[in-house]
Amino acid sequence: AKKKFKQAEVNIGMVGHVDHGKTTLTRALTGIWTDTHSEELRRGITIKIGFADAEIRKCPSCGKYSTSPKCPYCGAETEFERRVSFIDSPGHEALMTTMLAGASLMDGAILVIAANEPCPRPQTREHLMALQIVGNKNIIIAQNKIELVKKEQAIENYEQIKEFVKGTVAENAPIIPISALHGANVDILLNAIEDIISTPKRDPNKPPRMLVLRSFDVNKPGTAPEKLVGGVIGGSIIQGKLQVGDEIEIRPGVPYEEHGRIKYEPITTEIISLQAGGRFVEEAYPGGLVGVGTKLDPFLTKGDLMAGNVVGKPGNLPPVWQELRLEVHLLERVVGTEEELRVEPIKRREVLLLNVGTARTMGLVTGLGKDEIELKLQIPICAEPGERVAISRQVGSRWRLIGYGFIRE
Ligand code: GTP
Ligand code: MG
Ligand code: MG
Repeated sequence: AKKKFKQAEVNIGMVGHVDHGKTTLTRALTGIWTDTHSEELRRGITIKIGFADAEIRKCPSCGKYSTSPKCPYCGAETEFERRVSFIDSPGHEALMTTMLAGASLMDGAILVIAANEPCPRPQTREHLMALQIVGNKNIIIAQNKIELVKKEQAIENYEQIKEFVKGTVAENAPIIPISALHGANVDILLNAIEDIISTPKRDPNKPPRMLVLRSFDVNKPGTAPEKLVGGVIGGSIIQGKLQVGDEIEIRPGVPYEEHGRIKYEPITTEIISLQAGGRFVEEAYPGGLVGVGTKLDPFLTKGDLMAGNVVGKPGNLPPVWQELRLEVHLLERVVGTEEELRVEPIKRREVLLLNVGTARTMGLVTGLGKDEIELKLQIPICAEPGERVAISRQVGSRWRLIGYGFIRE
């Protein structure tokens, strides 16, 4: 009998310093190589957030975890546990805000740390801080490339990791030595995922909300106008469910010009088709990448133009903010740089980079209070009062995480 397709039910982030093996580990777990864009292939680094799903299965005979119907360890038939989605982030320091957009969708994360380098490297620190800032506590550490080091080096690296996570949200995270390249200890990692990254309780009757990470024009160039299909938006549902035929609103929406200024207008459309984990479905739920086919002019959705928007039922979305008041918490030191620089206080007229959900925007500081700032935003954002905002500042040539805030009404 053909089994009913089950959508992934939980998002597991792959985070960590550049080249430590996130994409290789994603492939070891899912069989999918998420670096597909030409620039990613050319440069050998991840640039865009990648999604790849896998079925976690357990062998009733030997008790080991795997992702295949037949146990790779003893040959018995395995039992389905859960379908999960891995979110592969870029580790390059220039792509920190991309990582932050992905982090807002992660229910848990695997912090990949290469055993053959001193720990922590700058983005090991910065990614862990990002998880802490978005409030992610379900963390597993994968000590990767373990086959490259001698036993003493592996132990020394383990001690460094232990020291590094002390006092952080990853303080009690298990540290699992693996070789992503050779698939070693993948069963133990899967077991840890089942133990630590549980599926959050979901209420399908909550009003739907999807955070948009990408958008496309799926038409081939030169398609006749009557054959054009509407714009497609991709992201992850964070609550409720979406169904084919639903009316949806997208905020902050579409830019337009008025008196030489760019403004945004919310837009409503209908869901024409839905994909979850790459398959067409009638209903989609939280977990994994969801693609929504709409009646929108594909011109509006091409090239990720809709990234950072929020999708929901018309009239039911959070407010759109052009100006923000934030309760601010600054870090003591800039994370992400090789040297440990102090975080200077925020100054009036300074421009900061803000990440809220999958949205990012620049904010000009217009007001300073005690533990509070006011900003004028370059691009408005759709967010709930109280929502978390990651704050970055330009240090040298890069944007670095310097703190976080909560939106005040
Ligand atoms: P970014 O996405 O650019 O941050 O890199 P990444 O963390 O995704 O690393 P990626 O998976 O692209 O691997 C980087 C390099 O490390 C590649 O050459 C991999 O083959 C190699 N690598 C990954 N895992 C292992 C491992 O377990 N052992 C060895 N020897 N090499 C590995
Ligand atoms: Mg990668
Ligand atoms: Mg790489």
